[in-house]
Amino acid sequence: MKLILVAGARPNFMKIASIIHAIHKDGKNIEYVLVHTGQHYDKLLSDNFFEDLKIPTPHYNLHVGSGSHAIQTAEIMKAFEEVLLTETPDLVLVVGDVNSTMACTLTAKKMNIQVAHVEAGIRSFDNTMPEEINRMVTDSIADYFFTTTEIANTNLLNHGAKAEQIYLVGNTMIDTLCDNLHQLVEPEIVKPYTNEEYIVLTLHRPSNVDDETVLYQSLLKIASAVNGRPIIFPVHPRTQAKLKAFDLPKNIILSESLRYLEFIYLIKNAWLVITDSGGIQEETTYLSIPCITLRPNTERPETVTLGTNTLAKLDDDSVEKLIHSIQHGTYKKGSNIPLWDGKTGSRIVSELKTIFNNH
Ligand code: UD1
Repeated sequence: MKLILVAGARPNFMKIASIIHAIHKDGKNIEYVLVHTGQHYDKLLSDNFFEDLKIPTPHYNLHVGSGSHAIQTAEIMKAFEEVLLTETPDLVLVVGDVNSTMACTLTAKKMNIQVAHVEAGIRSFDNTMPEEINRMVTDSIADYFFTTTEIANTNLLNHGAKAEQIYLVGNTMIDTLCDNLHQLVEPEIVKPYTNEEYIVLTLHRPSNVDDETVLYQSLLKIASAVNGRPIIFPVHPRTQAKLKAFDLPKNIILSESLRYLEFIYLIKNAWLVITDSGGIQEETTYLSIPCITLRPNTERPETVTLGTNTLAKLDDDSVEKLIHSIQHGTYKKGSNIPLWDGKTGSRIVSELKTIFNNH
């Protein structure tokens, strides 16, 4: 069986790593070609993750880079079509919900090549998020769906997928977390604060960072809500560009984007994480670290109902109330999510073998 594995942006790398390692371990008869679309190209967002996660050098790097959604999607499709013509795979495997996920799915399906989607079926039901459009398009045409939770299965069934296309396997990003917990690296930026109740902040969603005034006001509110605790803020390049003009409160400590092994160290030892990321909601739930997600909705509702995540907004006192409850030990403790156990990559490889043997 010849697979093309696609990865394009930072959150894809944690998901694809576990599948590649499982193929190396159990994937006899599976030949794979790794394609990096180049959606993320900075060393800090890409190369460092390949090194930390021991992902082999991609067979192809399409070097598409940044652009509007239409331009980026079109460039990925044009370049990926060439790869498919050369490689003629049996199946394309895409992960997550970034532009690369959708663009490669569309390209493959237009060429009648089967597609498997890992992390299929999650939904925020918020069509203003580019990722929600990517999820819906991908899941409306993919052939096989590897899902993280029962709710994702239900979403897929409600949107016309057939039960036999869906494989509830768990979360490959949690595999990568489990694989690396023993070798985390303490980042320099946290060393002065190791004995303090520090907070980790990440913000990169267009709705939170693209308007400089909104971003600055948000940072002021967060800084004042945490009662002087240090806030370590590793900044995504998208956000970096917007921050230059401002003097920030003293308890906000800026850092460049961290390596995977450093970032997980940072959140594992944090008192609280405040974020607008998708993946960090899952990682904090696994690590039992309180997480406040500054979004009106989440495509990962189990992190709220079962895990340590709470959605909140900055225009009322909800963040202050949550911080008060963490301080007084009354914040929820969270519990494990079924199948988030470090073995999802192996389950995917085993299902792929079955799928292939049945053809
Ligand atoms: C993308 C994903 C988002 C994911 C995030 C993780 C989409 C629609 N969005 O958002 O789901 O949570 O990655 O980081 O696919 N830039 C750099 N260096 C890079 C890449 C980007 O400086 O290596 C800057 C560029 O100015 C670029 C901007 O970041 O225009 C946005 O990059 P883009 O890939 O379009 O989206 P992200 O915001 O990174």
